[in-house]
Amino acid sequence: MLDRLRLHAYPKEPLTCAKLTQHASLKLETKRRAKPTLHLLHVGRRKEKLRSAEAGAAADPKHKESSAMEVSGLDSDGKEFKNAEEMWREQIGEDGEQQEKKTQWYREGISYWEGVEASVDGVLGGFGNVNEVDIKGSEAFLQMLLSDRFPNARNNQHLVALDCGSGIGRITKNLLIRYFNEVDLLEPVSHFLDAARESLAPENHMAPDMHKATNFFCVPLQDFTPETGRYDVIWVQWCIGHLTDDDFVSFFKRAKVGLKPGGFFVLKENIARSGSEGIT
Ligand SMILES: C[S@@+](CC[C@H](N)C(=O)[O-])C[C@H]1O[C@@H](n2cnc3c(N)ncnc32)[C@H](O)[C@@H]1O
Repeated sequence: MLDRLRLHAYPKEPLTCAKLTQHASLKLETKRRAKPTLHLLHVGRRKEKLRSAEAGAAADPKHKESSAMEVSGLDSDGKEFKNAEEMWREQIGEDGEQQEKKTQWYREGISYWEGVEASVDGVLGGFGNVNEVDIKGSEAFLQMLLSDRFPNARNNQHLVALDCGSGIGRITKNLLIRYFNEVDLLEPVSHFLDAARESLAPENHMAPDMHKATNFFCVPLQDFTPETGRYDVIWVQWCIGHLTDDDFVSFFKRAKVGLKPGGFFVLKENIARSGSEGIT
């Protein structure tokens, strides 16, 4: 499972069309699925076509981006979409009708999570067993990032992180709070945030002295603008697939002001290596 989890620290390279496509494709499969976090795009009947497109892409990188657009998928009702664009047209509509459909898209996303219990298994879509390996992998990555990019961290540098789509505070509690002096949590589902607030209360967990969860923001990412220059790291894990492509881009543009000079976005999402073959 771990080999399919990828971490990227931004800014390192600009957001490319291919990344957006991948992001949209992920949603193709995750939308309205009971377990949105760990489901990846199924490459269905068009697998052969995709394979030959991939062969072309190996020779021509431009070809790769356009072939990515052609990845087909099924939604949870079994409806097939030719590509991410087609899915988006159906989900958020054309320009004129967009606002209403977009509101509906976000309403459905939140209402799914409102029906989920506030537990590790709940926020991991029934894959609570992934928690340990996820934290281990993230910790190795974070240590590398901190030693490479924050060499003064040990010299009393005050580090602050934002945990986006934090759910019950799983990542903050198991990881971020050990490395950052302050962690803010952003989570639009109030019963998750209440659980986070409780489990991160100083009396309920062991954090190093002077490390604490400071702010609990009950808002969705698409409506959030961080305080200017507050964060060393903005951590976004297993929640960005909820955003439409335009909100995905505008979130990163807006949230950039929240980074300190030299600060980073960390984006952790699942990607398929080769269609559905690697999916367990
Ligand atoms: C799969 S859970 C992951 C939770 C947490 N990141 C973790 O790894 O434990 C997805 C989270 O995204 C949150 N979410 C849903 N829509 C969101 C949105 N528009 N903005 C921010 N978070 C959202 C859900 O409420 C849920 O807590």
